[in-house]
Amino acid sequence: MNVLLPLSAHMVHHRKLAQDVALFQLQLDDPFAIGPSGENHRPGQFVMLSVPGVGEAPFSICHAAHIDYLELCIRRTGSVTRRLFELGENTLVGLRGPFGNGFPMEKMVGKDVLLIAGGLGLAPLRSVLQYVLQHRESYGRLILVYGMGRQAEALFREDLEYWIDSTKLDVCLAVEHPAPKDLFPADTGHVGMVLERLELTADNTVAAICGPPVMYGPVAKILRSKRLYPENVFFSFERRMECGIGHCGHCAISCRSTCQDGPVFSAWEARSLGEPLEV
Ligand SMILES: Cc1cc2nc3c(=O)[nH]c(=O)nc-3n(C[C@H](O)[C@H](O)[C@H](O)COP(=O)(O)OP(=O)(O)OC[C@H]3O[C@@H](n4cnc5c(N)ncnc54)[C@H](O)[C@@H]3O)c2cc1C
Ligand code: FES
Repeated sequence: MNVLLPLSAHMVHHRKLAQDVALFQLQLDDPFAIGPSGENHRPGQFVMLSVPGVGEAPFSICHAAHIDYLELCIRRTGSVTRRLFELGENTLVGLRGPFGNGFPMEKMVGKDVLLIAGGLGLAPLRSVLQYVLQHRESYGRLILVYGMGRQAEALFREDLEYWIDSTKLDVCLAVEHPAPKDLFPADTGHVGMVLERLELTADNTVAAICGPPVMYGPVAKILRSKRLYPENVFFSFERRMECGIGHCGHCAISCRSTCQDGPVFSAWEARSLGEPLEV
C-alpha cells in the first residue's frame, strides 16, 4: 500500500459552525480500505485531505473513534480550504492517514484531565474530550478551558451546551470581547485568567493544549507556576506539511518530524527541541 496515494472519498455533508469555519463529514468510497474512516484513529491525530486539481493539507480529526464517517472542522484560509467550502455535497476528495502520534490517552488514565483550547484548537481537543467521556470511569476530573475572541466564534455550540449542563466535566469559557446577547456564562479575558484561578492537583493532572502559538508560552508559564510536571503537559504543534509520514523534512522541529513524532509534544520534549515555551 502506498501511503502517499490518497484514497478516494466523498464529502457526505458539511455545515457552518461559525464565520469561515465548517464541519465536514467525509466517507471513504471503499468501506474495506485501510485509511481514515472515523473509527481507527487516536485523539489528536490528523489526516491529509486533498481536493483534486487544487492540493492537499493536514486537518485534525475532531471526534473520538466509532462513528460512520470522518469529521473535520475546517477554517477557510487558503487555496485548498477555499475550494472545499465551494464544493457541494457528494463531491470527490482524497484522504490519507490517520497520521501523527495523537495525545497520550493512556498516560491520562487515573489522572485529572485539563484541556486548554484556543479558537480552532477545540477541534482536536474535542476528540480527547469525547474519548474521556466514552471511558469516563478511567479518568479523574475533566476540565475544559476554551478561549475565543467573541462568543459568536464559539465552535460546536450544541456540544458546548451539553458539556456545560453535564456533571461529567467542568467547562470554563474565556471571551475577550463579551456582548450583551452572549448565550454562555464566561469569564472576560483570555484562557490564562481562567487557568490562574483553577485549583489543580499538580502531581495528578495531565494537560492537553491546542490553539494559536501565541497562547502556548503564557499557558506553559502558568501551568509551571501551578507545579504541573512538564512531562504531563502536552502541546499540539502546527507546521506546514507535505508528505505527512516523516519523509520530506518540511515539518521538522529540530531533529524531529511534527507529522510523525508529533504533532503532540510534551513541554519537556518541547524544551529539548528549542520551542519557545517558558517551561
Ligand atoms: C497537524 C495539523 C492539524 C491541523 N488541523 C487543522 C484543522 O483541524 N482545521 C483547520 O482549519 N486547519 C488545520 N490545520 C491548518 C491547515 O492545515 C492549514 O491552514 C492549511 O495550510 C490550509 O490549507 P490551504 O491550502 O487552504 O491554505 P494555504 O494556501 O496553505 O494557506 C494557509 C495560510 O498559510 C499561508 N501560507 C501559504 N504558504 C505558506 C508558506 N509556505 N509558509 C507560511 N505560510 C504560508 C497563507 O498565506 C495562508 O494564510 C492543521 C495543520 C496541521 C499541521
Ligand atoms: S510532512 Fe514530510 S516529514 Fe513531515
